[in-house]
Amino acid sequence: MAILNCHNDCYSESTVDLFDKILKDRGPIGQHAKDSHGYFTFPKLEGDIGTRMVFRGKEKLIWSLNNYLGLANHPEVRKTDAAAAAEYGFASPMGARMMSGNSNLHEQLESELAEFESKEDAILLNYGYQGMVSAIDCLVDRHDVIVYDSESHACIIDGVRLHMGKRFVYPHNDIANCEKQLERATKIVEESGGSILLLTEGVFGMSGDMGKLKEIVALKKKFQFRLFVDDAHGFGTMGKTGAGTGEELGVQDEIDIYFGTFAKSMALIGGFIASSEQVVEYLRYNMRSQIFAKSNPMALVVGARKRLELLRTQPELKNNLWKIVHALQKGLKDAGFEIGKTQSPVTPVYLNGTVGEATNLIYDLRENDDIFCSAVIYPVVPKGIIILRLIPTAVHTLEDVNYTIQAFRKAYTRLKAGEYASDKIASF
Ligand SMILES: Cc1ncc(COP(=O)(O)O)c(C=O)c1O
Repeated sequence: MAILNCHNDCYSESTVDLFDKILKDRGPIGQHAKDSHGYFTFPKLEGDIGTRMVFRGKEKLIWSLNNYLGLANHPEVRKTDAAAAAEYGFASPMGARMMSGNSNLHEQLESELAEFESKEDAILLNYGYQGMVSAIDCLVDRHDVIVYDSESHACIIDGVRLHMGKRFVYPHNDIANCEKQLERATKIVEESGGSILLLTEGVFGMSGDMGKLKEIVALKKKFQFRLFVDDAHGFGTMGKTGAGTGEELGVQDEIDIYFGTFAKSMALIGGFIASSEQVVEYLRYNMRSQIFAKSNPMALVVGARKRLELLRTQPELKNNLWKIVHALQKGLKDAGFEIGKTQSPVTPVYLNGTVGEATNLIYDLRENDDIFCSAVIYPVVPKGIIILRLIPTAVHTLEDVNYTIQAFRKAYTRLKAGEYASDKIASF
């Protein structure tokens, strides 16, 4: 037991200093910082955002940015961003929207997003992650029950962690199990007088498969619940107009609350939630992340409006993206690679190997083939599995695809031959 205002030797021996604790246990990823910092973690990609960027002084072919539509460096976007920064700076408007930071342009962008998503209204979020956490937090109270997919993004998991009531998780896209969880949830809310919120992603960011929205929506006939979809990877990439996974699957009207981020297809920062007028008004007056934080800078709002305009009026961006997606995914499959169940641009390549082999393989691709892609290894995925994650974009070319597949074939042959198994991990 610690006694306050006392010299150190007053503390019991079982007391552990907070800093000693975190130095001992640096966290699941942090424990690898010494070996990976600057190369696998926190790498610095320099130059204009695009398919060619400089890593450690040398140009690389980049496959790890969610710049799906290639808008990051689109000439009209760059021009608009520069003009908006010159006109408004980054301070304006000051304060939270509710107090002093509102503007016509913020409201204009919200109406445009709502219209694009076929919803009555929308609310801007300063950050996607924070907005999701906060929206979940403000929608439910301890009488309510959350049902959610086990492979949901960290922002859903963390929103659920704030929830004071019951929560039930179903295995990824397992609809029979989802139904069971809804049954359990229904029993509880019948007693508590609460409601049920079902959370899933539209496109799952790691595996690239879509949430089974049609099947989930069909469960609304049996159970009373509201559906909240995080469509970070679907917004701009899926559906005829790019309105997302709901549009792709023909269930946009049945999504009660739709979330999109600006950080991927829009190549910006921030996000939005679109829903009915009443739900959006509720969020506007209850979401702590927006009420107690400065509003999105005007320059970003102007930049977002330009990106949305391009996303809506230049279908060739999405067409180019999908041309590259199809070529890459077909090429990988034809070459014998396992890419799982992806139905979206997200392209995981699943390999078997140790962490050491993954390290050597990625080092080989980066240093000898000048290909930069992200890798997911233990502890994020089980031991023995390596996922190379490729993100095709509208600005990649078919030559980029062919070159990459050849390099991957070579790396696969070396992996199978045990050439990456050396104890001597690549030094960088
Ligand atoms: C599925 C999903 N939801 C939410 C987010 C968070 O979005 P933001 O980067 O805008 O905070 C991400 C970003 O990685 C994501 O992949």
